[in-house]
Amino acid sequence: MHKLARKLMRAVANRDPDYYDMYADPNEGCFAQLYLERIRRHAAAAAIRPGATVLDAGCQAGRLAVPLAREGFRVTGVDTSGFGLRRAKAHADQAGVEVDWVRGDLLDVLPRWDGRQFDLVVCAEVIYLVRRYRELLTALAGATRAGGLVAVSHRPRFYYLHEALKLQDFETAMHVLRDQEGRFRDSEYYNWQTEPQLRALYAQAGLEWVAHYAIDRYAWLEGFSPSSLPEEAQRRWMELELGDADSDRMNGRYVLVVARRPGTGP
Ligand SMILES: C[S@@+](CC[C@H](N)C(=O)[O-])C[C@H]1O[C@@H](n2cnc3c(N)ncnc32)[C@H](O)[C@@H]1O
Repeated sequence: MHKLARKLMRAVANRDPDYYDMYADPNEGCFAQLYLERIRRHAAAAAIRPGATVLDAGCQAGRLAVPLAREGFRVTGVDTSGFGLRRAKAHADQAGVEVDWVRGDLLDVLPRWDGRQFDLVVCAEVIYLVRRYRELLTALAGATRAGGLVAVSHRPRFYYLHEALKLQDFETAMHVLRDQEGRFRDSEYYNWQTEPQLRALYAQAGLEWVAHYAIDRYAWLEGFSPSSLPEEAQRRWMELELGDADSDRMNGRYVLVVARRPGTGP
């Protein structure tokens, strides 16, 4: 659909049949569990419990914001997309939970909040889209209270390389190996970091590294949909994904980094 027609349809009819609603997609629901399992575990270990404040930075249709609100966290979701936020609000209403939805660019919104801080800051599948990703990480760190946690996902080189090689696009594969940022096939922009580079990035943002995990190691690479697996196979897939083999934590579709803002909390 033409971009303008799409915009008009969203504004007038609040509808867009091409919109990829990550909350509504059953596979994305399975992948959300890979994030939520880790986030819950680290939050509990840091005494961040239901009732605590959570920022979902780049929340789209609320795939993580809504389940966290359902668990009793006080969630604020920020996104540039008004349509995404309307979808998120509809999902929250349906789930019977309240979330504070804020429309805006994180790079504008967070500095304007000037001192507003959260117990937990989640930013999944956003930073690889943002050219000013170093600044964004610093802004996320600034929005986290002392002793609070950030959980941010990044794209590893492994992902781009395999996506190019699946299509036997050797030119793009060589480009990805050479350049950590740039255009990737049809997408305008990508970035990837190695583990030492990520560690340095978090240290520069004033955050202490706690742990990192591959998110979606197997389904993407092997080309299956976890949501269409029989129940028992789906349970085993989840077990494998959550198994955290040390050697392949950078080898997945995303890498989730959990880090801590130094200091003592309330
Ligand atoms: C791939 S979706 C991820 C959604 C959600 N975090 C999740 O995991 O389900 C990326 C979202 O980030 C939003 N986004 C990208 N850059 C942003 C920015 N600078 N400020 C606010 N939102 C941004 C996009 O509008 C989009 O909704």
